[in-house]
Amino acid sequence: MLPLSRTLRRSVPRLTRLNLTRHISSQPSSSEPPTTRTTSFGFKTVPEDSKESLVKNVFDSVASSYDLMNDATSFGVHRLWKDSFVSSLKPGRRAPMRCIDVAGGTGDIALRILDYARENYADRETSVAVVDINGQMLKEGFRRFKKTMYHNTPQISFHEGNAQALPSEEFPDNTFDLYTIAFGIRNCTSIPAVLKEAHRVLKPGGTFACLEFSRVNNPLLSTLYDQYSFTMIPLLGTILAGDRDSYQYLVESIRKFPPQPEFAKMISDAGFTTGDHVDGGAWEDMWGGIASVHKGVKL
Ligand SMILES: C[S@@+](CC[C@H](N)C(=O)[O-])C[C@H]1O[C@@H](n2cnc3c(N)ncnc32)[C@H](O)[C@@H]1O
Repeated sequence: MLPLSRTLRRSVPRLTRLNLTRHISSQPSSSEPPTTRTTSFGFKTVPEDSKESLVKNVFDSVASSYDLMNDATSFGVHRLWKDSFVSSLKPGRRAPMRCIDVAGGTGDIALRILDYARENYADRETSVAVVDINGQMLKEGFRRFKKTMYHNTPQISFHEGNAQALPSEEFPDNTFDLYTIAFGIRNCTSIPAVLKEAHRVLKPGGTFACLEFSRVNNPLLSTLYDQYSFTMIPLLGTILAGDRDSYQYLVESIRKFPPQPEFAKMISDAGFTTGDHVDGGAWEDMWGGIASVHKGVKL
């Protein structure tokens, strides 16, 4: 574990004892000057090199109310999706697994993975490394895990880092059996860079699994969902978290994320083997495509 930077130590002093490591690297270098390239930040177009800090501001702002807001805006449905996501992966079924949960935030997926393995297979050896670019979100996650039996065990660790450039000394090639990312990849500047890193850190035979908001195909459901998301979610953000803009961004970012077949192609292009590029193959829609689970295997 590398020493924390002085800035991080000052801002989150207790994290020095939490097995929390910090490695933020920018995207892999490119021959083009970064300022000439743009990307979406919700519905806005911003210089590619400013998106990370804009996204960081969003999650700094929502971190303390994130779990409450997730329940309020989805009426608790995100819990069902996450339960179904994790149980479809059956962590611990064959043997204890080394898992990495990227953009892991407050640890919702990590906790479910560990609980699933323990409750179904009496497995106390499966482990999860939670990685997130945002120290505030990790801090909330750490606080939450303190109340669990996994606290202070090798089963859980928290790492500050960028999904697009995981530090290779901490996360070497061919290390993990399972890579999960839930509601995180749409916030990243380069989806291909995230997928490339996922492929790098997985062992041959390892599974990539992504839960993300997706594209609703039924026109009636799509209209109702749009009405709800663009009016109610920013309103709830204002009332419950005092932060309309962050929730407006979160809704907009969902609409900018590629539809299921396009994302499935990106996963294949990164070198993963997937099912056919149809619902029930490379991905499984949940609730008509409001969310979907994409999976791929590194062969
Ligand atoms: C909507 S939250 C999801 C958290 C958690 N996975 C869950 O399902 O509850 C998105 C998370 O992605 C993280 N994130 C955004 N960009 C990232 C990046 N480039 N690398 C790592 N994490 C990132 C944010 O800090 C935030 O914690």
